[in-house]
Amino acid sequence: MSIAIKTQDEIEKMRVAGKLAASVLDMIEPHVVAGVTTEELDAICAKFTNDNNALSAPLNYGADHNGDGGFPKSICTSVNHVVCHGIPSAQALQDGDIVNIDITCKICLDDENTPEAEKKFFHGDTSKMFLIGDVSAENRRLCRITQESLYAAMRKVKPGNKFSDLGATIQKHIKKAGRYGIVKDFCGHGIGSVFHEEPQILHYKNADNRKMQAGMIFTIEPMINLGKGGTKLDQDDGWTAYTSDGKNSAQWEHTLLVTNTGCEVLTIRAEEKEISRIMNN
Ligand code: MF3
Ligand code: CO
Ligand code: CO
Repeated sequence: MSIAIKTQDEIEKMRVAGKLAASVLDMIEPHVVAGVTTEELDAICAKFTNDNNALSAPLNYGADHNGDGGFPKSICTSVNHVVCHGIPSAQALQDGDIVNIDITCKICLDDENTPEAEKKFFHGDTSKMFLIGDVSAENRRLCRITQESLYAAMRKVKPGNKFSDLGATIQKHIKKAGRYGIVKDFCGHGIGSVFHEEPQILHYKNADNRKMQAGMIFTIEPMINLGKGGTKLDQDDGWTAYTSDGKNSAQWEHTLLVTNTGCEVLTIRAEEKEISRIMNN
């Protein structure tokens, strides 16, 4: 399978989807405090997304043809030792917790005359860590170095660079930071009118020699653990991925368009002072 080069029209629509996903993270920020339950956060994000004429891509994602087994909520909330795909629940956030909120919006920008069968949705996918109250220095550092590793990889996005440059850069940054574990069981991904498409973006040293080209759109979303990189899946819900050793994990994610000179960060937030929407790499 090959990696899609998006058309100008698709790129325009991906900009809208990316901006909306970023705005959900901005919107939810003041709600992410000790005492709130993750299902309350889920409901607020779902309503905001729907009020903006979009859908939450995680809801029912991965369901089988009978409609069973899909992700049951609209957002992923991964607290402390949950690596990713945490399911919002009646669990209240507590002082000292770290939580990743992962938002994927899907939006149809076709006009109402477009026949139903021809309507297309476009996805914006992004996540960040929220620190609840008094977070330990160890956990704060975990969140910081994980975000730095994402930014370091983003600085390698430009035509002619290899996909393997991304994982190599993340691994180098994390190794320099100390004894952390890089999660290998989950990866970034191409994204467009399909939520997860080619290529897979590995967050560790790898041999994907394919070159990036202008018009490609993909996510980078490193997951870094305080302990070992291994994960285990919750056997009951089939979704929640925990660290195998019970230590904490952090993740940050952006959706990126390869431009002629670097990348455009489709999901950038105003609070991100270290990067700009247009990165000339
Ligand atoms: N947003 C996640 C990603 O970054 C995927 C979530 S799929 C779900 O790719 F079903 F768990 F929600
Ligand atoms: Co993603
Ligand atoms: Co995501």
